[in-house]
Amino acid sequence: MPQDFKTLLASTAYDVEQVLAGALLIRGYDQMTDPMRHAVLNGGKRLRAFLAVHSAAIFDVPKDAALQAAAAIECLHAYSLVHDDLPCMDNDDLRRGQPTVHVKWDDATAVLTGDALQSLAFELLSELLHIEPAFVLQLIQGLARSSGMQGMVLGQAQDIAAETVNTPLTLEQITALQSNKTGALIEWSATAGPIMAGHDIAPLHFYAKSIGLAFQIQDDILDIEGDAKLAGKRLQKDAQAGKATFVSLLGMDQAKTRAQDLVNQACDALSTYGDRAKPMRQVAQFIINRNM
Ligand code: IPE
Ligand code: IPE
Ligand code: MG
Ligand code: MG
Ligand code: MG
Repeated sequence: MPQDFKTLLASTAYDVEQVLAGALLIRGYDQMTDPMRHAVLNGGKRLRAFLAVHSAAIFDVPKDAALQAAAAIECLHAYSLVHDDLPCMDNDDLRRGQPTVHVKWDDATAVLTGDALQSLAFELLSELLHIEPAFVLQLIQGLARSSGMQGMVLGQAQDIAAETVNTPLTLEQITALQSNKTGALIEWSATAGPIMAGHDIAPLHFYAKSIGLAFQIQDDILDIEGDAKLAGKRLQKDAQAGKATFVSLLGMDQAKTRAQDLVNQACDALSTYGDRAKPMRQVAQFIINRNM
């Protein structure tokens, strides 16, 4: 990983965590505070935040607005993870190297923590400063669509249903499922910049579609050959659950080639932005080289 990118990834994560910590702090302290802090401030690569911040930087969106949008998407993402780990879903006890919310507290607390993080995501977007109200509305509507019944929630439902079907899903079906499950929030993140600036989203939308798929291929690869200590979560779960994945359908070598092709085509789509899009190109490469 190039040193300049490593530094930028760490500093972006630090900045968004400051905003997240501040957002929780000003809301006072009560029984939801600790589980919410645990869910959203317990590490994580902050990839979605990075996409929001550095897509915004291309268009000179004010930094405070970009970070607020980044904090919102990290709340939404953290909510999806807390619920994904519940016993009624993936039943995982480890996330980001720490006990999951339902293990550290209980199921009810985990459900409520996810609920509250989802609400907080929208509250943070509604408080965006220095952005045209019409563009703020577009961001809010986009997040509602990407996360709901036509986006992440649908993808999660399709993912769970896929565990119990008799015939494994086809490549086309897996691609559709993943584009809902993980793709939609990645697309929202990478197009947040042009939306806040009122610019054409097409190049970043194409970029996001490609890296979203590449991200999921790498998640599937890591499930097989990753190191659970680095990943901070249990691995080898897909095969155990008998899930068809990109790797089970394409084979390991072809899955890796496919992921690299997707990243190359994503980066090509950003040529119109020249050097300003360098962090977006670097993060695309990181998405398929990461070991966590
Ligand atoms: C994990 O997402 C869940 C999936 C969508 C596969 P990330 O790999 O981005 O998780 P964190 O935020 O870095 O923990
Ligand atoms: C989780 O997908 C995706 C969402 C929470 C939307 P996975 O179940 O594959 O993620 P991990 O492997 O637990 O991180
Ligand atoms: Mg899952
Ligand atoms: Mg899971
Ligand atoms: Mg997975």
